[in-house]
Amino acid sequence: MRHFKLSLLATAALGFAFASTAPAYAQAPAAAAEAPKATPWTDTRLDTDTRTELLLKEMTQDEKLKLVFGHFATAADWLNARGDIAGLNWKPPVESHHQSAGFVFGVPRLGIPNQWQTDAGVGVASQVGDKPRLRTALPSGMATAATWDRDLAFKGGAMIGREARLSGFNVQLAGGVNLMREPRNGRNFEYGGEDPLLAGIIVGEQIRGIQSNHIISTVKHYAYNAQETNRFTASSNISDKAGRESDLLAFQFAIETGNPASVMCAYNRVNNVYACESDYLLNEVLKKDWGYKGYVMSDWGATHSTIPAANAGLDQQSGYPFDKSNYFAGPLKEAIENGFVKQERLDDMARRILWGLFSTGAFDKPVPVAEDQIDFKAHAAVTQADAEGGIVLLKNTGLLPLATTAKKIVVIGGYADKGVISGGGSSQVYGQGGNPVKDLGLGPKAFPGPLTYYPDSPVEALKARSKAEVVYHDGKDVKAAVKAAKGADVVIVFGTQWTGESLDAELKLDENADALIDAVAKANKKTVVVLQTGGPVFMPWLSKVGAVVEAWYPGTKGGTAIARVLTGEISPSGRLPVTFAASLDQLPRPKLDGDPKSETIRTQVNYDIEGAAIGYKWFDKKGLKPLFAFGHGLTYSTFGYNDLKTSTAGDKLSVSFTVTNTGKVAASDVPQVYVSAPASAGWEAPKRLGGWDKVALKPGESKTVTVTVDPRLLASFDSASKTWNVAAGAYEVILARSATDAVSKTTVTLNAQKYDVRGK
Ligand code: BGC
Repeated sequence: MRHFKLSLLATAALGFAFASTAPAYAQAPAAAAEAPKATPWTDTRLDTDTRTELLLKEMTQDEKLKLVFGHFATAADWLNARGDIAGLNWKPPVESHHQSAGFVFGVPRLGIPNQWQTDAGVGVASQVGDKPRLRTALPSGMATAATWDRDLAFKGGAMIGREARLSGFNVQLAGGVNLMREPRNGRNFEYGGEDPLLAGIIVGEQIRGIQSNHIISTVKHYAYNAQETNRFTASSNISDKAGRESDLLAFQFAIETGNPASVMCAYNRVNNVYACESDYLLNEVLKKDWGYKGYVMSDWGATHSTIPAANAGLDQQSGYPFDKSNYFAGPLKEAIENGFVKQERLDDMARRILWGLFSTGAFDKPVPVAEDQIDFKAHAAVTQADAEGGIVLLKNTGLLPLATTAKKIVVIGGYADKGVISGGGSSQVYGQGGNPVKDLGLGPKAFPGPLTYYPDSPVEALKARSKAEVVYHDGKDVKAAVKAAKGADVVIVFGTQWTGESLDAELKLDENADALIDAVAKANKKTVVVLQTGGPVFMPWLSKVGAVVEAWYPGTKGGTAIARVLTGEISPSGRLPVTFAASLDQLPRPKLDGDPKSETIRTQVNYDIEGAAIGYKWFDKKGLKPLFAFGHGLTYSTFGYNDLKTSTAGDKLSVSFTVTNTGKVAASDVPQVYVSAPASAGWEAPKRLGGWDKVALKPGESKTVTVTVDPRLLASFDSASKTWNVAAGAYEVILARSATDAVSKTTVTLNAQKYDVRGK
């Protein structure tokens, strides 16, 4: 209590030097009590490094220690009842924001703001509890990756970052970029798919958007957190080379693109060392090799020690008391006094956190709590655009867009009369208008529940756009649904797959949806299926239906977005950011490793089976035919590709071509460039995505596109010398509609080239 009062007084005395002029700022002083002392680090004309060093010099040992220790910020009796910390009677700090993820004390004496941390990648989340914030939800990370649209990713990030800022948060725990090694991973919906370039760029753009609000974003979960089963103890085992060419490359691209001030290390172990105490991941790869200047925060409950973690490069312990001990509080102080952790290490931790606060502007622009300033209407348009850009038309025999002559449309299942589904867990955003399925008893009652829908009903959105009679049937009774389907001009069945953090999923639809679709499609050939899933699912009924639309978790305005695609108000333009396997035996691990009921077995997951050959690369290498290929997606128009050319000026491979909308409606296309090395290069798989563009074209319109290929995508990583090496020889350049649909090819001869670990 004493501490709290002192903090407030100190803020009042000195805050004037730091706060901006807006009246509602949480940290703004009531009045300036005395003239501020010299605070040269507040001079915004100085560069970030200089300001950081100036401020670091002023800090006491205890002030540095404050910065490196994070608290959970939601009252949760279960933490006290947990029993593994004797006598714990924990409460969130009063300065923290209710039902939020975390809080770190600042140093008011020096103008260092508190760090208010909120989840996550689709918007301002709330922890489970009574009074969640109601905020705008973007479509899932997977859906945004499916847009293949850098601009939409940036705008989505900028929007949720603004809501975070106006909600009083200056740290957003977003930026999930774990590659989809495991289609059953219950958190795939939070991530950017299976390709290091696509995921890294899209997630990086989102991070850049978030941080454009002068708040910090993370990139997470570093690294190889590819399944939820046994996530606290499993070891992801993989060689350096394979990782540098896959998951680590995705992080590298995301960091280069988004410049996040923080990296969140993961729960799992990597080659049997906890990710948050891995000298290899934190000190060597991230900080030394990549030159990362921000700070590493642990995931909530992912710190397991003081001395090993501090010395391995962890800079901030998060979410106490998720961990068993307050490792980075008193124990760290002692470890420094005893010489087990050097003073320079603590200085470096504080330096990195300050660097993050300065580099983003979070130091100079304190966050207000000004929820009434959130422009929900404008933000709805942002999330709708993202959802529309990410919806993928997987199959269409001509049923879509819906014929305007249809008299009766029967919509079945998926609670499509109520809204659209979202993914569960810490990233859960609670939508404006509440959860319309709250009382239906769906999903788990506790975390990662509650199963939440956003109240933008596809049925209502269809009714608003269609002259036909639109009738809804809940599909619970399959026979009754079949009867209803028989009389319809077209039937639209909604199938959902709810997934959530901490649980892995089966690749199938919820409830009776697979049987329902099958029965309905048998009764009426004009059956369209709309899927809302976390990631890939099997489609045992595929050959029987006329069209399939993958809408992922489409966010706050998902119902409107789906209806606009179905009616042809817009042409679908999403492309798969992941491969949809046809069966489990096609996967590198047909059986998921581990046992959800036992954390003590210390599961070993061998990611060297596929190494860097994730997703389409694995399918190519093994000659497997997927259900739907990476990059696949249909439109209501057609596109022609011409004039494929390459240039190697200055050893930079660039590829150019012309795209023409040869159809009758305006639409966007995603031409993809894949590269394939000569066999002597020893690549992990026959080809890699080298680049792409998303182009909006009117009928008859053409555009010339140029794609530059990052040299790391043409190279192999050599772990011994830490260099990227391009082998001399003839490379194939493939212009394609998807990983399995090449349109045109050319060959280019490259010189032998060598780049440093940063690809320079
Ligand atoms: C998740 C993180 C999240 C954190 C804080 C953890 O369980 O893995 O992604 O940011 O909780 O809520």
